[in-house]
Amino acid sequence: MKIILAKSAGFCFGVKRATTMAFDAAGKCSRICSLGPIIHSPQLVRKLEEEGVEVVRRVEDVPGGAVIIRSHGVTADELEELRRRDLEIVDATCPFVKKAQEFARKLSREGYVVVLVGEAEHPEVQGIVSYASGGEVFTVADRAEAEALPRKKRIGVVAQTTQSFENLQQIVGVCLEKSLELRVYNTICDATSVRQNEAREIAAKSDLMLVIGGFNSANTSRLAQICKEILPATHHIETASQIDPGWFHNVQTVGITAGASTPRWIIEEVLERVGTVGK
Ligand code: F3S
Repeated sequence: MKIILAKSAGFCFGVKRATTMAFDAAGKCSRICSLGPIIHSPQLVRKLEEEGVEVVRRVEDVPGGAVIIRSHGVTADELEELRRRDLEIVDATCPFVKKAQEFARKLSREGYVVVLVGEAEHPEVQGIVSYASGGEVFTVADRAEAEALPRKKRIGVVAQTTQSFENLQQIVGVCLEKSLELRVYNTICDATSVRQNEAREIAAKSDLMLVIGGFNSANTSRLAQICKEILPATHHIETASQIDPGWFHNVQTVGITAGASTPRWIIEEVLERVGTVGK
C-alpha cells in the first residue's frame, strides 16, 4: 500500500511559533495561563495544561503572572487591559495577523471607512476590527453582504488572514463601485490555500483519505470537506486510535493531510498506525 503524506500537513508558521513560545514560557514562568486555547488541538492543549498552562476565557479571569496571547490575537482593549494589570505578556499573535491589525488602524486613522472581509464572530476578526474602531468599520463575509454596504467616499479594505482570494476579489469589486477612492491591503496568508490545493491533488489520486486535526478546528473540517467532495472515502480523525482497519479494504493508495493546528507527533502516530493496519 502506498502512503502519500501532504508536504503542507500540520502546523503553519504562526501556529508553530505560538506553540513554541507557549512551551518556552511554560518552562520559565511559575504562574501562566493562555487567553483561550492556544490552538484547536485538544491533545496539545492538554499537554500545555500538564506543563502548568491554564486556559482562561476572559481577561478578567487571568489570575496574574504571565499570559499567552494566541496566534489570532486579541482586541486592542484586551491588550491594553493586560498591560494595565502589569502582567507578563507572551504575545504569540501571528505576525500576519498583526499586519492586518496595523493596516486596519492606519486606514482608520487616515480617514477611510474600513471594510474587513471575514467572519464577524471569529476572534481574529474581532481583534482586527478593534484597531479600526476609532472610525467607521464594517465586517462583510461575502459579496451579498458587501452589496448592502452604504456608498462611501473613501473605503479601505483588509481581510481576515484565512479568507480566500476569490472572496476578497469579489468584495473589492463591489467596494470599487461604492466609493470614489479605494485602498486595498491583501492580508491573506497563503497557508490555507496551499494546504487546500495540495489536499485536492492528493485526494484525486488516492483510494482513501485521512484528514487529521481537532474536530473543533475550522480549517481541518474545511480540508476534510474539500477532500470528501473529491473522494467520498475521506475520514476526519483527531488521533490514530480512531482509525478503523475496515477502511483499508481494497485500498492501494492512502492520502494523508492535517490541519494547520495539528501537532507533528499526532501525524507520526497516524502514519505508524496506517503502516500497521494497511499491511
Ligand atoms: Fe498565521 Fe497564516 Fe497560520 S496567518 S497563524 S501563518 S494560517
